Amino acid sequence: RAPALVDGFGRTVSYLRVSVTDRCDLRCVYCMSEHMTFLPKAQVLTLEELDRIASAFVGLGTRKLRITGGEPLVRKGVMDLFERLSRHLKSGDLDELTLTTNGTQLETFAEGLARLGVRRVNVSLDTLDPEKFRKLTRGGQLPKVIAGIEAAQAAGLTVKINAVALKDDNAAELPDLIAWAHARGCDMTLIEAMPLGEIEVDRTDQFLSLKDVRRGLESFWTLDEIDHRTGGPARYVRVKETGGRLGFITPLSHNFCESCNRVRLTCTGVLHTCLGREDASDLRAVLRSGADDAGLVEAIRMAVDAKPKGHDFQIERAAAPAVARHMSTTGG
Ligand code: GTP
Ligand code: 5AD
Ligand code: SF4
Repeated sequence: RAPALVDGFGRTVSYLRVSVTDRCDLRCVYCMSEHMTFLPKAQVLTLEELDRIASAFVGLGTRKLRITGGEPLVRKGVMDLFERLSRHLKSGDLDELTLTTNGTQLETFAEGLARLGVRRVNVSLDTLDPEKFRKLTRGGQLPKVIAGIEAAQAAGLTVKINAVALKDDNAAELPDLIAWAHARGCDMTLIEAMPLGEIEVDRTDQFLSLKDVRRGLESFWTLDEIDHRTGGPARYVRVKETGGRLGFITPLSHNFCESCNRVRLTCTGVLHTCLGREDASDLRAVLRSGADDAGLVEAIRMAVDAKPKGHDFQIERAAAPAVARHMSTTGG
């Protein structure tokens, strides 16, 4: 067996996030700009190429694969990719094959995903108000997402709800959203808005520190620290009153880079070893130059070896993007 992937700071990389498309059927205002140009098909990795790179990572000790986008379920053939990758679950080389989705297509895909060995899905949902949802997503239909969540649960999938905390758009509603998720048996995680890519609005106006959100929740709920680990960056508490788990993803108010175990592949085959840095290795060029598996593994090792210590997001500087690319390019 090949030696594990360890970066220059001694962190083992065991989690790969794979963005399979930069496209999305929604356009959340904090994520995308109004006029995004999407990539031409020739630049996007084929399913074979995605499989080849992801599988090389599995060969190097990756235990968790998360398919993201854009919206992964709008990628044509995405279920073929899940089917290919599911062989690593069967062989025991992978612990988890999962995805992060906006939920609009889950009615169609949930059963198929469950059949292929997916156990959990993370669904992004920032508000339960249909009008606000339409505004935030620039035209999205909330009932579609709720139906998607229900379909996922009916298919036996565990659903985690992700919400980005936004001062004007959902701050007041967060307790209701958390209680709603918990009443449905879902874990919930809150995310601090990160300065990725130019958008029309100033992110500093909307930024909400989860330290403050947590303090607010503690004025009426009891939050008990728990040791719940998923391999992701969230730190969890249990809300005594609802009985559910609540996670906090705090890149700005409390940096968690020290324990980072993740790297991400874009749909164009660029490996970003940090969400908040420009560092990039072009694995598509490696593949398309005809490299064999050893060549691919060598390129991956070199990139991981140079993984930066961490991001440099700062609340005071959130008005200007820390990196030029949008979240939809790297899938979070
Ligand atoms: P679990 O497996 O359920 O723990 O999920 P996860 O948190 O690993 O994945 P998910 O897609 O739900 O991630 C939620 C959000 O966390 C992402 O969209 C990112 O915004 C953020 N996130 C994940 N990893 C990192 C990271 O390494 N750095 C930063 N700054 N944010 C991250
Ligand atoms: N900051 C924080 N989270 C973001 N997301 C998209 N853009 C940003 C951003 N700039 C979230 C989505 C989804 C996850 C993949 O990333 O809402 O939950
Ligand atoms: Fe689409 Fe997700 Fe970005 Fe919203 S956050 S526009 S759902 S990729």
